[in-house]
Amino acid sequence: MIQVDDVRKKFGDQEVLKGVTFEVKKGSISTLIGRSGAGKSILLRHMIGLDEPDKGHIVIDGKDIVGMKTPELNKIRRRFGVLFQDGALFDSMSVSENVAFPLREHRGLPENEIQDVVMQKLDVVGLRRHTQKYPSEISGGMRKRVGLARALALDPDIVFFDEPTSGLDPITRGAIYRLIENTHVDGKITYFLVSHDISGVMAISDEIMMIHDGRIVACGTPDSFRTSSDQVVQQFLMGSPDGPISID
Ligand SMILES: Nc1ncnc2c1ncn2[C@@H]1O[C@H](COP(=O)(O)OP(=O)(O)OP(=O)(O)O)[C@@H](O)[C@H]1O
Ligand SMILES: [Mg+2]
Repeated sequence: MIQVDDVRKKFGDQEVLKGVTFEVKKGSISTLIGRSGAGKSILLRHMIGLDEPDKGHIVIDGKDIVGMKTPELNKIRRRFGVLFQDGALFDSMSVSENVAFPLREHRGLPENEIQDVVMQKLDVVGLRRHTQKYPSEISGGMRKRVGLARALALDPDIVFFDEPTSGLDPITRGAIYRLIENTHVDGKITYFLVSHDISGVMAISDEIMMIHDGRIVACGTPDSFRTSSDQVVQQFLMGSPDGPISID
């Protein structure tokens, strides 16, 4: 479904992506892990066409989005849902207005149908009783759930999640992972997550990739990560400050 091929990106003289290559299978839950600052969010921005690589290709369902003109890119983007790291909710809009936003932008639906979809998506994430609140009036976990409802509003083929559980307590984190699993229809919808919550994503992912020093250093099933003898992978799993990954 997604092929990332030799993607390189420099900011000034800092080379953040040094030739990133991996594939995301259609209908899977695939997760990119890596320490803070490894370039996960930047890579995700490239995958949704918000940034252009200096070099390389990003092929989505057979189409290279690198260098693509805006109208054609927008057509592909309409098939995406995105849950941004900071939620990216509109502060001046209520919960239901936030979820309605993509529907108003992309679908010429009558108002009553928009409200039906909004309520259905908010039901899925358990927020039916909070539709009129504003983002500043709800908790961090609830904001993530609104973000998820909005990401699912257009019934996307691919959903990108940037740190869906960061800043949440363990129980809320578990609830978000359960929602991710429950809304994922195997083989139909593709979920791509970016996270450094290794234990959480192990439980729900089909495939895991690890980015380190600008490149993918490991990829495989959660089990293959658990049993990996790669020192970079093991250091990350153990959360050890000692090892090949240096703290800068
Ligand atoms: N627009 C930019 N200009 C310059 N440098 C940038 C820019 N965006 C990101 N970077 C740099 O790219 C590196 C990777 O950032 P990124 O946000 O992708 O990390 P991350 O892996 O998502 O980290 P975290 O887990 O903390 O979210 C950082 O060193 C950051 O300073
Ligand atoms: Mg990030």
